[in-house]
Amino acid sequence: MTRVRMKVDGVVYSDEVEPRLLLVHHLRDGLGRVGTPIGCDTSNCGACTVHVDGDSVKSCSVLAVQADEAEIMTIQGLSDGDWHPVQRAFQQHHGLQCGYCTPGMIMASVDLLKRNPSPSEEEVRHGLEGNLCRCTGYQNIVRAVLSAASELRGDGPIAGSFQDSTDMTEAHA
Ligand code: FES
Ligand code: FES
Repeated sequence: MTRVRMKVDGVVYSDEVEPRLLLVHHLRDGLGRVGTPIGCDTSNCGACTVHVDGDSVKSCSVLAVQADEAEIMTIQGLSDGDWHPVQRAFQQHHGLQCGYCTPGMIMASVDLLKRNPSPSEEEVRHGLEGNLCRCTGYQNIVRAVLSAASELRGDGPIAGSFQDSTDMTEAHA
């Protein structure tokens, strides 16, 4: 066992873990961050995406011990009361159906917009190509990200046409 210390969603944790334990399992099973789903066992789908020291990372592709002393944000730490503009845009533009890909898609989108606040549609598609969605056909996801980009730049969201009450914080707890 190895001791790892990390700040997750603003809270510092120190735990003994198996050296082979994946970060996603530590987050879900050890620290209760079940809003971060596991969608594959091949590091392909991106459902498990979190931020590690500010960068978008597939948490099934790193070991918990590799995140020692790191600062991690999961979907559960993204909003502080009100939804993050990217979460709101996914809701407004129907950027999800089953919701399984959504936590990872949103975390990857937040990182994308931090790096490129004014992406083209092509740049959004390219930036999210590591995140797979089996349901939506991506069109509404791209529209949601472009709308969030507009809102974050202060230009207001792109008009949307869909409203529902889906909880995107823990869509698959
Ligand atoms: S669960 Fe991590 S990439 Fe699929
Ligand atoms: S909404 Fe179902 S996989 Fe993306």
